[in-house]
Amino acid sequence: MILNSPLSQRGQTASQSVLRIDFEAYFEAIKNLYHPTENPNGTFPLNVAENKLSWPMLRSHIEHLTCEHDIPDWVANYTNSTGSPSFREKVASFYSEFLTHCEVNPEHLALSAGATSVIDLTSWILGEPGDVAVFPSPCYPVYKQDIQNKSGMERYDLITHHNIEDLANGPLLNIKHLEAALKDIESQGKRFRLLVITNPDNPTGGMYSQSKLNGFSDWCISHNIHLIVNEIYSLSLINTQHPELKDDYPTPTSFYSFANIMQQRQSEYLHHWYALSKDFGASGFRVGMVYSLNKTFLEAYNNLNGPSMVSNYTQWMFELVFSDEDFIEKYIQNNQKLLTENYLTVIKALRELQVSYAPARGSLFVWLDLSEFLKENTQELETELWNDLYKQTGILLTPGNGFGHTQHGQFRLVHSCFPQKELEVAMKRFVQFVENKRKA
Ligand SMILES: Cc1ncc(COP(=O)(O)O)c(C=O)c1O
Repeated sequence: MILNSPLSQRGQTASQSVLRIDFEAYFEAIKNLYHPTENPNGTFPLNVAENKLSWPMLRSHIEHLTCEHDIPDWVANYTNSTGSPSFREKVASFYSEFLTHCEVNPEHLALSAGATSVIDLTSWILGEPGDVAVFPSPCYPVYKQDIQNKSGMERYDLITHHNIEDLANGPLLNIKHLEAALKDIESQGKRFRLLVITNPDNPTGGMYSQSKLNGFSDWCISHNIHLIVNEIYSLSLINTQHPELKDDYPTPTSFYSFANIMQQRQSEYLHHWYALSKDFGASGFRVGMVYSLNKTFLEAYNNLNGPSMVSNYTQWMFELVFSDEDFIEKYIQNNQKLLTENYLTVIKALRELQVSYAPARGSLFVWLDLSEFLKENTQELETELWNDLYKQTGILLTPGNGFGHTQHGQFRLVHSCFPQKELEVAMKRFVQFVENKRKA
């Protein structure tokens, strides 16, 4: 710590803690983006979890709606800190109809500026500094900062497997893993406070079955551990019955929303996160939600959410979007079709190369294994490979670093950043890179 610093100790630490190690390369890459005619040698940043495939459809609908309707007066004023009552009602009907498939009481919902704010505030309310939040590995890297920066909670990466092939039938987390983590955390004199599951998962795209979710819920409740399921990718589903994909899915698993279990259990230890950032490709609008039946949690949330409120204009706009259920239905179907086409484009290239991947049932990702190119299982060699791929092909993947996995050389590819024809160009470059590397 620098004495007499104009910053607090917290501020000094924050000034040294980068949000993401791949952001610098990302901001460089987007200055030179691929374009089929204007920049055919440009880059393909496939590292940030954005869905750009369905924005044209959503944009024209938003443009139409905002031209057709006058802005109501309430938009210019303050509203409830957890979201305007009318928008929360629309969100609740959207949940019931499309997401959770069970009735949701708008009073049990709170909205903040994106899932990041929701995660930050949830952990602040539920955990003490030094408490532990457990994530089955590999897992979305930024959870670490979200639960740590303000709340001071620690991230614990729970290892359930080493090889990517082990994920062929979906996520492996079971009660034995949880028991072992609990023992390990308690032996360090710490408290296992939260279990966070992302369903469908980031980065593997795996999906948790209803029976697994039931088991985790009962185990967490019996140990006074909060279980949070983040369903931020729940409408971004891959068509696992597609003729060219179905062999990857020997066991059927359909998406089952955790909200149903919450309503059956009525426990103050179960919570649910969502946001419009991924399924609606609307990360820039900053709309995130927490759903909980814990009254005191919601009261605390209401008292703390002031700095993270969603702008009323955005709430009004999405209220209009959610009022048109026919549009939402078509949007979801079309989005899933586009996601499946892009996913298949990547899978075809990986199959041709015999590069292993985790079969995804949802999300925007392919989690793939290039560890054959690492002479040793080290972070340094993985970073070298990641840079090498970017320098030679312009393709920027999300490096495995930060996902908390033991096997280096595994990367996340976001397949929804470019339209399918353009993604094909990226995959041609990728195939060439792997083939050259194997020949070398
Ligand atoms: C699992 C998960 N949670 C939260 C977020 C952050 O979402 P938001 O942009 O709504 O803050 C992401 C973004 O990649 C994510 O993958």
